[in-house]
Amino acid sequence: MKNHISRRRVLQTIATTFAVSSLPQFSQAADIKSTAGATHQFAIGETDFLLNGKRLQIRCGEIHFARVPREYWQHRLKAIKAMGLNVVCAYLFWNYHEWHEGQYDWQGQRDAAEFCRLAQQEGLWVILRPGPYACAEWEMGGLPWWLLKHEGNFLRSSDTRFIEPAARWLREVGRVLGPMQITRGGPILMVQVENEYGFFGSDLAYMRLMRKIMLNAGFDVPLFACNPTNAVVRSHIPELFSVANFGANPEQGFKALAEVQKGPLMCGEFYPGWFDTWGTPHKRGDMGKVIRDLDYMLKVNGSFSLYMAHGGTSFGLWAGCDRPMRPDTSSYDYDAPISEAGWMGDKFAQFRAAITPYLLPGETITEAPPTNPVIAIPAFKLAETAAVMANLPAAVIHAVSPQAIEHYNISRGLIAYSTTLSAGPDGVLEATLVRDLAWVFIDGKAAGVMDARSRRFRVNLPARARPVKLEILLYTIARVNFGMEMHDRKGVHGPIHFIAKTGSSSNPEKQLINNWEIRALDFGADARLPALDWQPIVSDKFASADVMKPAFWRGSFSVDTVGDTFLDVSSWGMGAVWVNGICLGRFWNIGPTQTMYLPGPWLKPGQNEIVVLDLSGPERSEIAGLKLPVLDQLRPEKDFFPRNNRSQLMLAGLFPVHEGSFLAGSAQQEIRFAKLAFGKQFCLESLDDFDGKGFAAVAEIELFDHDGKIMSQATWTIAYADSEESVREDGSALNAINGQASDHWHTALNGKIALPHPHRLVIDLGSKIKISGFRYTPRQGSDDATGRIKTYRVFIGESLVSAAN
Ligand code: GLA
Repeated sequence: MKNHISRRRVLQTIATTFAVSSLPQFSQAADIKSTAGATHQFAIGETDFLLNGKRLQIRCGEIHFARVPREYWQHRLKAIKAMGLNVVCAYLFWNYHEWHEGQYDWQGQRDAAEFCRLAQQEGLWVILRPGPYACAEWEMGGLPWWLLKHEGNFLRSSDTRFIEPAARWLREVGRVLGPMQITRGGPILMVQVENEYGFFGSDLAYMRLMRKIMLNAGFDVPLFACNPTNAVVRSHIPELFSVANFGANPEQGFKALAEVQKGPLMCGEFYPGWFDTWGTPHKRGDMGKVIRDLDYMLKVNGSFSLYMAHGGTSFGLWAGCDRPMRPDTSSYDYDAPISEAGWMGDKFAQFRAAITPYLLPGETITEAPPTNPVIAIPAFKLAETAAVMANLPAAVIHAVSPQAIEHYNISRGLIAYSTTLSAGPDGVLEATLVRDLAWVFIDGKAAGVMDARSRRFRVNLPARARPVKLEILLYTIARVNFGMEMHDRKGVHGPIHFIAKTGSSSNPEKQLINNWEIRALDFGADARLPALDWQPIVSDKFASADVMKPAFWRGSFSVDTVGDTFLDVSSWGMGAVWVNGICLGRFWNIGPTQTMYLPGPWLKPGQNEIVVLDLSGPERSEIAGLKLPVLDQLRPEKDFFPRNNRSQLMLAGLFPVHEGSFLAGSAQQEIRFAKLAFGKQFCLESLDDFDGKGFAAVAEIELFDHDGKIMSQATWTIAYADSEESVREDGSALNAINGQASDHWHTALNGKIALPHPHRLVIDLGSKIKISGFRYTPRQGSDDATGRIKTYRVFIGESLVSAAN
């Protein structure tokens, strides 16, 4: 009877809250027999999610099956359940299942249906997020690389070059996972359409189209959209249920939801920690705050999804890249309550204790599963090597001037370019664009590195008495997973020039370097190793010339019993590691990650083979397995171009283009200049801050172009920051131009004593641009967050910083 009444209430709510066209999808949630014989209904009511007519407070945890060895799926699901959660949230990454256009893969580690079955078996419901775009610090945000064979910016739009393959993908998802919906006896309660679209664009017709595609794909459970708090109102459409994503300030998030719809309040992504990028400090969540916010949500009958309950590892080459170009580490530990290796420590216990009082009638909390065995492996040497340049495939692509690799149907990996450079004086080799790293060689000798992170596309070349062989070895790290910058076409992009030193500086002698031979080791979806010609190492001095860097290295080690371990790769440079043919992920000595998680099930008793690809060369070609991970050791001095702090500001004598005061609080603010400014560098100068402690912090700076439109940040770099916190938290200046409001630039904390104002942040825009104003996002979070700037000045000019010497 109660059931019956609630159901009527649900339908009324839907009729008032959602457009009539969406009615069928909800009403179909009723009265369908599950294969197991039980009938379950799920619906969105006026104030609650309703399961069989009863209130369901969704306590959800996100886990990506692609980031957990299949052998451990069940273990992690048991851990999630034991934390007091009743639902798991799972992204699908389109490119993980369709690396080659039209060829879908749902086998083994990609068996999404099996993951859902296991969740159901463990008593967990599922929220599915099939994309087509995901973000998630995953290669290209989950979009397949082959889309980039087309020119222009068309991803995540109604352009047929995107919509047609995306609709095909979603139909395929419907075929495979449609039967797993609650309406057909499965565990899937709700399905997300797109992902944080309001963060990216404003074409709501695109969202409507995506919703239709999902309906056509056979999804008949409630469909929803997620957006960060500040994008909820502007991107809500009544046909889709809205949830808000945030890591702080749940009151504000829920308020935004209440403004757009009647219905239960849900946080779609609640962040207990954050992800790491190479070269920036390891992130940790503030547990006190996290638990307070969680308790608030539970108390007000809110629902949530913890992003991440268990982060795991971006195995293989799947880790993504923050914008403009800051690659993510392979560890996706996320400081989540269930650690990368599935450990349930203090954080887990705190979550469990906070959630337990809110269990629903009939729910019980289960015991945590035992931790999997951990082993140590004594240090062993890798005594064979295979130079990359000596192991290139025979197949050659001829190009007058190189184009993006997608154009040659190369997905990712190592790409070698070679040509002949005529005799001549010393000078500079310059590419138009390099994504991501490129090592330049003259007759086999290293000349320098080009690096997309700092947009260094130039390398000095010596004088040549005769023609020489010019080679460039390009390494792709990952395609950007966020913002317009996702149109991240890899490779060395021509035209490539040689600029001789003898030419006058006003009219340099620029010689076009044409006719390249291109050979690729395409690592493909699963980073399969090519056949390599291994050579024993004859000398112990690895730094000496007998080993040509970059190279593959091979060794083996023996274990009696298998178990999880953390490979200590701290004596190596940068590259990737394979164990028994499985690619574990990337390493980079700059940190913060210095170990690599090796799951026990991928080992076998007896001999195991390990291969390391090291582009910059090891200090010692040795590896050991540790019992504890090292996720927090930064070594900036190991980078190709260690940060130069000697550059000087050159603001003397310059007039600010704008002066003003920001408003207090965390709301975004738009500032329009009285007249257009023109320049290549933008400097924000803080003169004081709201709480008077002397710090400066900025979550995000965006610029308006001459038409008042937001500019792309793709070509931006940080030219100068007077101070950055790098010990207590990640206060890197790059956080101010990465499109994420949740992190920020923060001046050094120095044990709470601030350096005095003024503080200056200088952004280099890549070229001279007309600027009509800027959008400032203050540091987010509570009212007492330090560093919110009050009075400020803006300088714009050709060059506001002296070149580093
Ligand atoms: C956003 C995205 C997620 C993830 C987080 C950061 O909220 O929706 O996929 O990228 O940021 O971890």
